[in-house]
Amino acid sequence: MPVLAATEEAIFQAAQALVRGEIVAFPTETVYGLGANARDAHAVTKVFAAKDRPRFNPLIVHVPDIGAAETYAAFDDTARKLAKAFWPGPLSLVLPKQPASGIADLVTAGLDTIALRAPNHAIAQALLKETQLPIAAPSANRSGRISPTDATHVVAELGDLPAMILDGGPCVRGLESTVVRVTGETPVLLRLGAVPRQEIEAVLGHSIALANEDAPIASPGQLERHYAPNTPLRLDATDVEPDEALLAFGTEEPLGALTTINLSVAGDLTEAATNLFAGLRALDETGASRIAVTPIPDQGLGEAINDRLRRAAKAR
Ligand code: TXA
Ligand code: MG
Repeated sequence: MPVLAATEEAIFQAAQALVRGEIVAFPTETVYGLGANARDAHAVTKVFAAKDRPRFNPLIVHVPDIGAAETYAAFDDTARKLAKAFWPGPLSLVLPKQPASGIADLVTAGLDTIALRAPNHAIAQALLKETQLPIAAPSANRSGRISPTDATHVVAELGDLPAMILDGGPCVRGLESTVVRVTGETPVLLRLGAVPRQEIEAVLGHSIALANEDAPIASPGQLERHYAPNTPLRLDATDVEPDEALLAFGTEEPLGALTTINLSVAGDLTEAATNLFAGLRALDETGASRIAVTPIPDQGLGEAINDRLRRAAKAR
């Protein structure tokens, strides 16, 4: 299995693989991505195949900075303001695609918009620099499953499907980027994520609404059941059954679970976000009949954490 510690030499090899049209998993500050040259339709096909991802669900294109992003999308003042405030970082902007962007149609699922993000991670940035390519990269998991926040998670999800898996250790944010569409008068929040809604509102100077999930084209990736472990989840648990595993938050931790993982004993939402997906994955492997989850405050990053938990809990 080609898991390589992300040394300079390994990054160079990974860049060459991307240029050759192969797919490579790499770390970002949010989650691990499964990358391909966004201009190469054949390479992008491999990403969809490896993830078993529906073709109607477009990918985020990773770029080094705003300058590069402007070759693929039209930025208005609002988009520029958001990019300046949060890039490099965990914000993806959905913008009007430049007609001559050169990005493969499959990346954007045939839409006339494109999602762009400049990752705040040295390894991801080194790959972008070395390849000089726009890199399309969804999270490196099978479609519908929990996003990987560690190289071992990528191996568990995709095995040897990527030509290479660059190991850069655990992802510090642990939640996917926040996705905001800026195509009309009012920006729309398409996906809650690592940048809390309030931080975006503070930059915009007004509130921002979450897209209606029933509008499929608005947010094609917001499939109801997502981020899902195999074990059923029970949310807002204040007690626990002996056959349940427990995902806890804060000091109110019910006793008697088969196994317990506490996302943050200190009740810190940033720490909880970082630990969320790894915690779900670990409890999924305990053989418990259910995973009970204690309540998590629905503010700041808690909004995105609860969004992921609700989707993970949706019945099959
Ligand atoms: O943090 C992240 O965003 C990670 C890392 C690897 O950068 N990537 C990630 O990609 O989470 P993915 O494919 O798992 O999620 C991309 C989301 C989906 O919900 C997709 O529908 C949405 O972005 N998206 C992409 N292009 C879009 C577009 N043109 N219009 C609306 N939504 C779009
Ligand atoms: Mg994903």
